[in-house]
Amino acid sequence: MKSNGRTGRVLSLILLGPPGAGKGTQARQLCSTLGIPHISTGDMLRSHTRAETKLGAEARSFMSAGELVPDRLVLAMVKERLSQPDTRGGCLLDGFPRSVPQAEALTGILEECGMPLTAALQLDLDDEAIVTRLKHRRSCPKCGRIYHLVSSPPRRPDLCDTDGFELVWRPDDRESVIRNRLQVYHQQTEPLIGLYQRLGKLGVINAGQAPGRVQADILTTLHQRTGSRFVAN
Ligand code: AP5
Repeated sequence: MKSNGRTGRVLSLILLGPPGAGKGTQARQLCSTLGIPHISTGDMLRSHTRAETKLGAEARSFMSAGELVPDRLVLAMVKERLSQPDTRGGCLLDGFPRSVPQAEALTGILEECGMPLTAALQLDLDDEAIVTRLKHRRSCPKCGRIYHLVSSPPRRPDLCDTDGFELVWRPDDRESVIRNRLQVYHQQTEPLIGLYQRLGKLGVINAGQAPGRVQADILTTLHQRTGSRFVAN
């Protein structure tokens, strides 16, 4: 087990929460602060669909309907990613696990890697706030930067501030699909909250605050759980 150069310890973190709670927004900042890789199964699956790989072709219909991609496909993808050397100092899993079988498999994978789970951070937000947030989301297809047309718009309409690429609207951000994603979350992912609570790993964060406040609360939670103080960069 290798410790992380920036924090001096291995941090294996899960970012748990409904679609649109701000997992991607928080993950980018947090990974920069902690110096650990951001592993988003949603981003990985979207890369596969764009590249038209076999996995992408299998995943596409599930994603556009707002259903979970079958566990066997996601688990193979995550296992391969966690075998890469950049994860030895820890990682932040965003959007994984999303079902009880995925959580059970993850426990085994992290044990094999000698990186026991540090914490599962739950971003808590109610369904109606989520629907409003997602209807206004745009993202950069090149760098993944996330915008909100009202609360964090790009400086130039529809163009990424970082690299000037045209921003895209995710096809699963149609209201009917958002509502199905929420239903899937409540049925299949929400049971993980109780599971990580029983394991003593759960930290709950109010995701209805401004992004900087949410980030500060995440860092405070990590401080409480690990005894180490982390400062945003
Ligand atoms: P995935 O890409 O993981 O989507 P998700 O979990 O539904 O989450 P989102 O990316 O929609 O939202 P987010 O929480 O990251 O919010 P964001 O930061 O963008 O998964 C997509 C699909 O892939 C799934 O439906 C499934 O089909 C498949 N999949 C993925 N993982 C899988 C797995 N493990 N197993 C099986 N299938 C899997 O923020 C949202 C908006 O809010 C933005 O506009 C942002 O600017 C704004 N915002 C963020 N924070 C704030 C704030 N504090 N205040 C105001 N606005 C804010």
